[in-house]
Amino acid sequence: MRVSPSLPAQLKAALDGKLQGFSRNEAAQRSSKISNAYRTGGNSGGIKSDADALAYALARMPATYAAVAASLNALTEIVPDLAPETLLDVGAGPGTASWAAAEAFPSLASFTLIDTNRTLSKLALELAEDSTQLAGCRYLPGDAGENLAQATPADLVVASYLIGELSESDQRALADAMWAKARHALVVIEPGTPAGYARILALRGRLIAAGAHVAAPCPHDRPCPLVAPDWCHFNQRLPRSQAHRQIKGADVPFEDERFIYVALTRAPPPTRAPRVLAPPDVGKAEITAKLCTEDGLALTKVPRRDKAAYADARRWRWGDAVLSES
Ligand SMILES: C[S@@+](CC[C@H](N)C(=O)[O-])C[C@H]1O[C@@H](n2cnc3c(N)ncnc32)[C@H](O)[C@@H]1O
Repeated sequence: MRVSPSLPAQLKAALDGKLQGFSRNEAAQRSSKISNAYRTGGNSGGIKSDADALAYALARMPATYAAVAASLNALTEIVPDLAPETLLDVGAGPGTASWAAAEAFPSLASFTLIDTNRTLSKLALELAEDSTQLAGCRYLPGDAGENLAQATPADLVVASYLIGELSESDQRALADAMWAKARHALVVIEPGTPAGYARILALRGRLIAAGAHVAAPCPHDRPCPLVAPDWCHFNQRLPRSQAHRQIKGADVPFEDERFIYVALTRAPPPTRAPRVLAPPDVGKAEITAKLCTEDGLALTKVPRRDKAAYADARRWRWGDAVLSES
């Protein structure tokens, strides 16, 4: 099912419930402290109290949710028959990826969340309490690598905004461990920075060598054709609630989240489609689009005089797969 970038109603209601009696000023201060820690190379280790966890969820969950939703949409577009029943959410934090996966896959009946941060995990379980799909989720406390070694394999494994918190050698070990537990698919999402892209690229290459296929965003399993300083990333716009605006000290009613992801499958994807790598340039005479294709990078030009193709190309958005029937 195609997932909206907005938080689902049950999650919004659960977060609103938590906001009762919690000062927005305090949430804003705590979330800016946590964001500063991230910016200066820190990680979620600074999230220690229930108030910190809630401030993190209020400030970051809408954007990370929207990025996971977009990544899962890209996967289901290429592999429409995927119907996972079990999910492992690695580095689950407040449960963001589990909520997005529940929306994308009504087939999901079992959710296992792994995280070292007990405060964030407590919040994840509280938020899930009244959810139709997530209420029975399981939480495995502690390090992802250690937990994965014991975990039962799942149809779908997701790690969102996790691997940037690990050393390079831990990232390699975790990539192998997650792949070993992924029966059908593994989706890894990171911030859309050159560093986030480099981490995804390393994991992608390693797991292709181990037999994985790329379902999205790449329409091939070959090395990425982009050359530095270019890097692959996408943008997801999401609405900002009033509370979210107050906490982030923002004026505009939306936020743009830059992200990068890779969706890997055990079976070769049933279809491959070029991916739009940047906002297309709509000129008077033609549309120019940067596409990643099975044959490499292409700067495709669609002339206005080719009416049907031009009408199709006008609908292309950054991050879209250009499926042949579109
Ligand atoms: C930036 S948060 C992302 C949370 C959530 N996945 C999301 O997208 O909103 C990173 C999470 O990874 C967890 N984490 C970091 N290192 C970990 C490890 N070695 N094992 C398990 N969890 C870890 C942190 O506790 C934190 O909850």
